Amino acid sequence: MTTVDKPIGFGRMHRKEDARFVRGRGTYVDDVNLPGMLYGAVLRSPFAHARIVSIDTAAAQAHPKVKAVITGQTLEGLKLAWMPTLSQDTQAVLATDKVRFQGQEVAFVVAEDKYAARDALELIDVEYEPLPAVVDARRALDPDAPVIRDDKEGQTDNHIFDWGAGDEAATDAVFASAEVVVAQDVLYPRVHPAPLETCGAVADFDAVTGKLTMWCNTQAPHAHRTVYALVAGLPEHKIRVISPDVGGGFGNKVPIYPGYVCAIVGSIVTGKPVKWMEDRSENLMSTGFARDYHMRGEVAATRDGRIRALRVKVVADHGAFNGTAQPTKFPAGFFHVFTGSYDVEAAHCAVTGVYTNKAPGGVAYACSFRITEAAYLIERMVDVLAYELDMDPAELRMKNLLKPEQFPYPSPTGWEYDSGDYPRALQLALDMAGYAELRAEQASRPAGGPLMGIGISFFTEAVGAGPRKHMDILGLGMADGAELRVHPTGKAVLRISVQSQGQGHETTYAQIVAEELGIPPDDVEVVHGDTDQTPFGLGTYGSRSTPVSGAATAVVARKVRERARQVASAMLEVDPGDLEWEKGRWYVRGDHAQGRSIQEIALAAHSSLELPEGVEGHLDATTVYNPPNLTFPFGAYICVVDVDPGTGQVKVRRFVAVDDCGVRINPMIVEGQVHGGLADGIGMALMELIAFDEDGNCLGASFMDYLLPTAMECPSWELGETVTPSPHHPIGAKGVGESATVGSPAAVVNAVLDALKPHGVRHADMPLTPAHVWRAIQGRPLRT
Ligand code: CDP
Repeated sequence: MTTVDKPIGFGRMHRKEDARFVRGRGTYVDDVNLPGMLYGAVLRSPFAHARIVSIDTAAAQAHPKVKAVITGQTLEGLKLAWMPTLSQDTQAVLATDKVRFQGQEVAFVVAEDKYAARDALELIDVEYEPLPAVVDARRALDPDAPVIRDDKEGQTDNHIFDWGAGDEAATDAVFASAEVVVAQDVLYPRVHPAPLETCGAVADFDAVTGKLTMWCNTQAPHAHRTVYALVAGLPEHKIRVISPDVGGGFGNKVPIYPGYVCAIVGSIVTGKPVKWMEDRSENLMSTGFARDYHMRGEVAATRDGRIRALRVKVVADHGAFNGTAQPTKFPAGFFHVFTGSYDVEAAHCAVTGVYTNKAPGGVAYACSFRITEAAYLIERMVDVLAYELDMDPAELRMKNLLKPEQFPYPSPTGWEYDSGDYPRALQLALDMAGYAELRAEQASRPAGGPLMGIGISFFTEAVGAGPRKHMDILGLGMADGAELRVHPTGKAVLRISVQSQGQGHETTYAQIVAEELGIPPDDVEVVHGDTDQTPFGLGTYGSRSTPVSGAATAVVARKVRERARQVASAMLEVDPGDLEWEKGRWYVRGDHAQGRSIQEIALAAHSSLELPEGVEGHLDATTVYNPPNLTFPFGAYICVVDVDPGTGQVKVRRFVAVDDCGVRINPMIVEGQVHGGLADGIGMALMELIAFDEDGNCLGASFMDYLLPTAMECPSWELGETVTPSPHHPIGAKGVGESATVGSPAAVVNAVLDALKPHGVRHADMPLTPAHVWRAIQGRPLRT
């Protein structure tokens, strides 16, 4: 049974948020109801690619409950028909010239209730002239491919960017002299973050004050506010973005969606607050998806299994508008961490981004800026090499892992991994799994019977973007602020720029303050998700909260602690240099009994106590944390599967996950994060796929088709940990939220392919559904 303490600092502790969440008392966007509020609904394109001939809204306008019908033409008049994406592209708010993916926003109806709004959508008559669609990213640059973004001046094809990292010539030279070279096409198919709560907003424009208040379940309230300010030409203080309780983000709630802008315009036009909430199908077919990476990996190695070089070429499907949210310098995110956890001489990656007639995105889904794709590729390639060399995949990994003494490790593609002890983590996972016994069991299986597979994955993540010098989104540097105020009674309020979507920030950030100041976590209120109430910062995605805002919290608490030292010195009438700190208290060196608690100091700081020259009263501080480097969590995962060769059905029997995220603030929350990510991994490996037919019709726009894992598909997770603190993070913590999603798909796929090895199957693409597995056994793998 899990033990739970009431730690004053780091340790297992129930989430403070649970009190409202488990009682169903959270406040989500859809719970916001304002007097006189109207409801919006979006008319969406039935075609993936079509020219708009005409839009007739007369019948909808005549509906007795309809207050406004907004089209691209309306928005053109306001210069709002197009908006910037977070990747410096443009995206149609409501289509004017063409529709470019099925589900694209064409018109917006505002009505007295949501049913009338939806009914009125059916009264809008749009005449389309269908065009051929580009569905396969690998065909997007064919000379005869229809040009999707003909709205962009000078755009004559579907090319978005070419980007690469590493030393191509050095890599080619190693390949030319390599004893063994293996190559493999590896697809990471399009999947969807599918958060429990879909996207939505309530926009309330006050014509008297000229202030817009926007409740919206965004992961990046401050970044959104700045984009709205730039687009609308309003000062930031006239825009308040409130991101209340959010039911899961996973990257899906990073982009700005047309529905948000339409709700704002709807409120301006009608003078009333307007709510817009999308339904599940709208969320699945039109909002930021993830992955869609078509990769060709190559490994150069020695015959005895030393990996010497890696090469990869990628075609990245970004959909119809480049709506991904990557730091400006890195259009393929952090994909160049694809050398993973191995000591290689040289590496090179080249990524080409293309437009297709699909929903825009390529956003996270718990993938830390394309690291999930990178980790999957390298971990698949290592198994492909093991297959080729007929070598044990654990032995092959152990042979090539970076050694502890190599840290900080400069990678061949430009990273500096901060810390790690990889062999220790892998050995722990092997021991926990009983690897030798599992292999013995596998070897004793009679031929022709049920199959058993053991899959390993060892991943390195890079989380915590900035530093701001190298990383920005739309020119906004990736640093985050924090403000801490300790009130006279010793209770504190911490204001942070990141936003929680269920990760428990109200608990863990209070624990950081508790660790630094000794104020119990229950006495620390964490304020987040409201731009009027919190300092500027870039938001929560890519597991950056702990590495950046967690650090900001520790730093600001230390500033308060230093102020408290000055106040304590006045209280105790000693020199500040003669004071020593223990958690929650300054005392006189050499006289432990002579001290003052942080609560006593807080009261004195607000009293008439005479303070030394230059020392301000009150007990508060602010900071902006600009991370010097990313943090590099890592982990070793082992999955055991049983495969029925008759049906292709895969059952995950066991899953061992050893994670190292440096110092753990709240191990219970960390374990919850890992559990969720592992379930994600099973889903992506075995079930999840946003599929399209050749006309670009989206085939997976409901949970009947887009399958998510449930407890039925998940084993009882077996978790282990090692702790290698980050040397540059104030409390030695690294991010963890995405680790398990990054690391687990490869372990599951490697396990299934290990089971299929007797049938000569070297690779098959995700999702490994029963049909897919069965066909692979028959020697006729499906192409996703
Ligand atoms: O950015 P996001 O919050 O999604 O990810 P994260 O920084 O990895 O944190 C997820 C949750 O785990 C937060 O509540 C963290 O404070 C907590 N965590 C922790 O307790 N110890 C760590 N070393 C890392 C994260």
